[in-house]
Amino acid sequence: MARSAQTPGLRPFLPADAAMLAALFRESVDELAADDYDDAQREAWASKADDQEAFGALLAGDLTIVALVDGEIAGFASLKDNADFHMLYVRPELARRGVGSALADAIEKIAAGRGTKTLTVDASDAARDFFAARGYVATTRNTIEIGGQWLGNTTMTKALAAPVAGSAH
Ligand SMILES: CC(C)(COP(=O)(O)OP(=O)(O)OC[C@H]1O[C@@H](n2cnc3c(N)ncnc32)[C@H](O)[C@@H]1OP(=O)(O)O)[C@@H](O)C(=O)NCCC(=O)NCCS
Repeated sequence: MARSAQTPGLRPFLPADAAMLAALFRESVDELAADDYDDAQREAWASKADDQEAFGALLAGDLTIVALVDGEIAGFASLKDNADFHMLYVRPELARRGVGSALADAIEKIAAGRGTKTLTVDASDAARDFFAARGYVATTRNTIEIGGQWLGNTTMTKALAAPVAGSAH
């Protein structure tokens, strides 16, 4: 698919985004992970957003940023404890247009700006190539249980460059 020339806008998560991000999360898992996880596995994964209040609290507890394309929410990403790349989800219609990269660039810059030397992600099989293309290296293969389903993922790490003194984050 052709990459859009437009760079997504970014802004912090707001509590009012919770419903939209819960729906985006479900769509992203259902469509973009369909080659790697079966229907029951994707349903179990997506059900993490069924309790919208709890999902919103999870996003608010992390440092969460939202990407905008043409004023609409196109994806979101979150950083936990300054060291874990916790979530990264893009709207299926906007996949492969640089939204995930823009969010990941921002999360890596924020973490580096806070002094984090190594960023860790438990990458889904659907996102493994994305993270590998950004220089993340696989360290551990995991199998996690969600709602009675077993899903594989891979812990990957990336050494972050120290921020340049005086640069904006
Ligand atoms: C993984 C994800 C966030 C990528 O977002 P995206 O906006 O499509 O990514 P980008 O357009 O910025 O892709 C940048 C590069 O990553 C790589 N990449 C991205 N998606 C890929 C895929 N499905 N297969 C192989 N490489 C991929 C490519 O090198 C791509 O560059 P290219 O398009 O010029 O070839 C998105 O597919 C997604 O939301 N997946 C489902 C949810 C998920 O698994 N999230 C991660 C949880 S850990």
